[in-house]
Amino acid sequence: MNVHGQHYRTIWLRPDDPTVVQIIDQRHLPFRFVIEDLRTVEEVATAIKDMHVRGAGLIGATAGYGMYIAALTAPRTSLEAFRAALHTAAARLKATRPTAVNLAWAVDRQLAAIAAAGDDIEAQIEAAQRTAQEIADEDAEFCRRIGEHGVRLIEEIAARKGGEPVNVLTHCNAGWLAFVDYGTATAPIYAAHDRGVPVHVWVDETRPRNQGARLTAWELGQHGVPHTVVVDNVGGHLMQHGMVDLVIVGSDRTTYTGDVANKIGTYLKALAARDNGVPFYVALPSSTIDWEMRDGLAEIPIEERDATEVRIMDGLSGEEIREILIMPETSRAANYAFDVTPARLVTGLITERGICPASEEGVFGLYPEKRKKG
Ligand code: MRU
Repeated sequence: MNVHGQHYRTIWLRPDDPTVVQIIDQRHLPFRFVIEDLRTVEEVATAIKDMHVRGAGLIGATAGYGMYIAALTAPRTSLEAFRAALHTAAARLKATRPTAVNLAWAVDRQLAAIAAAGDDIEAQIEAAQRTAQEIADEDAEFCRRIGEHGVRLIEEIAARKGGEPVNVLTHCNAGWLAFVDYGTATAPIYAAHDRGVPVHVWVDETRPRNQGARLTAWELGQHGVPHTVVVDNVGGHLMQHGMVDLVIVGSDRTTYTGDVANKIGTYLKALAARDNGVPFYVALPSSTIDWEMRDGLAEIPIEERDATEVRIMDGLSGEEIREILIMPETSRAANYAFDVTPARLVTGLITERGICPASEEGVFGLYPEKRKKG
């Protein structure tokens, strides 16, 4: 993705020192573009927990690089000490955020790759570096393919609208900032825009952290995609008045039956879409599918974040970023970060292998090798 004309991913190894992981610190966007160096497992864990990086795919990629840093910084006095440090780091990283399954998936993939490298510590460090890079490259490539599959939906609507812009509504940020590149919900939008298909995006602000207003709007703007930011409750009104042709959102965890956990408020958009006959698609790479979970509502852990995020907002005031209290000092606040949209409300899943119905048959139709034998 381009930022001021320069290509960036959201995470990479520092070119002059590959023992350092560099990220875009998203807490400062859209007001400042800040790159942060990560050198220790603790710094990586903090970056994930405090949302310097966020979004399912990027959380997974960061955890992958975190395990590489764990291998680099683990004691080499004995194989036992080295392995113990890796397992401690794995537990520390997995505990940072509960909902996006990519986190545990990436950590477990690293542990398996490191174990497969044998007993030589240098070989294990090399395996960790290679696997971190593979996770990141795969994430970017899968998102690119999601764009290739999803763009057909936009093109079909565009053909019916005879040159009028296709209005897509999205929630939160499932853009390139939430992944390593391209994004999921945004990938079909970027692909359509690049092909000259007129597209306009309704961007849900996405309280309390405003990932839509701050991040999605910024990255669409960098790519030149027309968009309008709306507050979270506007979607139903827009759909009732025929102003939304298609909803595309991302996912932080999807069950193999097609239930989808995504940023809080997604479920309400799905209900409004169903009531108004608007197609509701979820775009996700297979790293976001939880192959062990059947019932999203009962089983997906929903992160509850600090209520401070509800009570206090920050934004640009003159040249400075300022925080303000937006509710009575003494009122309690609750901060549920995700909700689950049941598969019955989802028109289809857009994956790197194609589009399928949000159902067990649909998901295993695309990923037959994941079906448990017997
Ligand atoms: O809390 P976040 O910002 O890490 O939440 C993730 C999201 O941005 C959304 O839920 C997104 O739609 C899916 S993650 C690609």
